[in-house]
Amino acid sequence: MSHQKAPYAVEVKAGQSLYLCQCGQSKNAPHCDGSHKAIAGAAPKKVDFTEDKKAYLCGCHQSKNNPFCDGTHKGL
Ligand code: FES
Repeated sequence: MSHQKAPYAVEVKAGQSLYLCQCGQSKNAPHCDGSHKAIAGAAPKKVDFTEDKKAYLCGCHQSKNNPFCDGTHKGL
């Protein structure tokens, strides 16, 4: 299940860690909200950022550069 066919633009800070939804069930996408606990084998992806930047996080769950958008959503 995908959240949207477009990336999420998120401002991140150096030293910040995010737990990103991988199961497609979070109601707080792209962040994990614990919904994966009902799905066997599902877990969020922890990403550590080392610089301040705007990150484009995959919302379609099809990117080959997970958790970042690689443009795959354009073909969906
Ligand atoms: S949102 Fe998934 S590849 Fe862009």
